[in-house]
Amino acid sequence: MDLGLTDKVVVVTGGASGIGRATVEAFTRVGARAIALDRDPEALARLAAETDGVETRELDVTSAADVDAAIDAVVERHGRIDVAVNNAGISRGLGWFHDTDESHWDAVIDVNLKGIWLCMRAELRHMYARRAGVIVNTASAAGLRGAPGVAHYVASKHGVIGLTRTAALEYAPLGIRINAIAPGTVDTAMSDSFAEARRADPFADALVRQPHPLRAAAAADEVADGILYLAGDLSTFVTGSVLSVDGGFTAQ
Ligand SMILES: NC(=O)c1ccc[n+]([C@@H]2O[C@H](COP(=O)([O-])OP(=O)(O)OC[C@H]3O[C@@H](n4cnc5c(N)ncnc54)[C@H](O)[C@@H]3O)[C@@H](O)[C@H]2O)c1
Repeated sequence: MDLGLTDKVVVVTGGASGIGRATVEAFTRVGARAIALDRDPEALARLAAETDGVETRELDVTSAADVDAAIDAVVERHGRIDVAVNNAGISRGLGWFHDTDESHWDAVIDVNLKGIWLCMRAELRHMYARRAGVIVNTASAAGLRGAPGVAHYVASKHGVIGLTRTAALEYAPLGIRINAIAPGTVDTAMSDSFAEARRADPFADALVRQPHPLRAAAAADEVADGILYLAGDLSTFVTGSVLSVDGGFTAQ
């Protein structure tokens, strides 16, 4: 099936690991020109060594200067950005609301919310000029529901959905589509660190344990498939939406 993504210029933040890496590989398989943007130079080098045809570039999504420079550099080299997947995200800490560390709040909001806003702002400057483009933001099931033990993460992901819907409304008249994907638990480094925190603290484990009806966790590829759908020609009338890829979690 042709998703209309051949030769498209695609940037993926957090592209060196987990969902981002699976997304970069999926775009490459369908013939797109994928550029992985990430703050981890070693993971980027591994990706470049293991995947043919992938371009990589280091950036920190919390730095406006970094983000603007990276997006401008991609446009200078390739002439445009057709698809932007804003996916870089972190989790920090797990426990009672009243015990939440301020540094954890700041770090999570900075990467997960401000980072997405900075990336969208830089991408939309170019997409606005061309009156073309597609954006997919990685939110979470935690952007649609409360999740005990991770209020800062939940706040950041609700914010991502708010940014997605608002920008979708602003840019729909120009034909620019902006959607979010909302995974449940996905088998990645992030969910590993989460599982470790749960093991270290049985109380925290009890706070967050809630099963996904289909099975325990998604593979990163299953989320990448949803991102491909939102980026390509199968979703030309879809904007401002949140696609749940969560094994039925939010249906409960
Ligand atoms: N794993 C899950 O269960 C799950 C569930 C729902 C949503 N998500 C979301 O999916 C996205 C990807 O998570 P993942 O599970 O693949 O995690 P991951 O840790 O495997 O990958 C995240 C990537 O983002 C990069 N990154 C982190 N901070 C960055 C920054 N400031 N600038 C640039 N790059 C940065 C990391 O270096 C890493 O390569 C995140 O937004 C996360 O919140 C994950």
